[in-house]
Order: sequence, then C-alpha cells, then structure tokens
Amino acid sequence: MAEFITVAKVAEVPPGTRIVVAYRRDDVALFNVDGRYYAFEDRCSHEDVPLSDGFIDGGELECTAHGARFDLNTGKATAPPAFGPVRRYEVRVEGDEIQISR
Ligand code: FES
Repeated sequence: MAEFITVAKVAEVPPGTRIVVAYRRDDVALFNVDGRYYAFEDRCSHEDVPLSDGFIDGGELECTAHGARFDLNTGKATAPPAFGPVRRYEVRVEGDEIQISR
C-alpha cells in the first residue's frame, strides 16, 4: 500500500504557485493548479532540468529548457524533445497538510 508523507501545509501552496518539496531522497515539484495539486519528480525526462520552473498550460506542464510537455494527470510526454514520462506522485490533502505518495 502506498505510503503518504506530509510535504507541505496547504497555506504554503496557494493556487497558481508551486514549491519544491522532499519526498524521501527525491526533489518533487508540487503545483497548485486552480485548487488541484500535482506532484512530479523535479527533473525533466529530457535533460534533467528542474520542472518546478515550468509553465502550466492547458492541462500540461511545459519544461522551460526546450519546450517538452507532460500531461498533468499522467506524467506522459506529450511534446518532444522528451519522449519518456516524468515520475508522478499521488497527492492528497489531510486537514491542512498536503501529502504525497509514489
Ligand atoms: S530539459 Fe526539459 S525539454 Fe529539455
């Protein structure tokens, strides 16, 4: 069973923002998109650039380095030059805490 770990308080990630949190040994980019949370390993599958610098656009996350795009709901690459997915984490809110699980 997946183990959820508290990584942030809800107040730390208002809508339209993102932060980088730690999940075990991974840096994780945590986004609040209109009140929904999405979490990805903070590393583009193309060349390891932090995805926490990326843009959210139309249900996708775009890497700032070379424009690869990833589906927010699956982590799958939707536009080159990335072809592999990025690791996505499950996110839940418990009270005022945001928790993620791999
Ligand atoms: S490092 Fe992300 S598109 Fe190249």
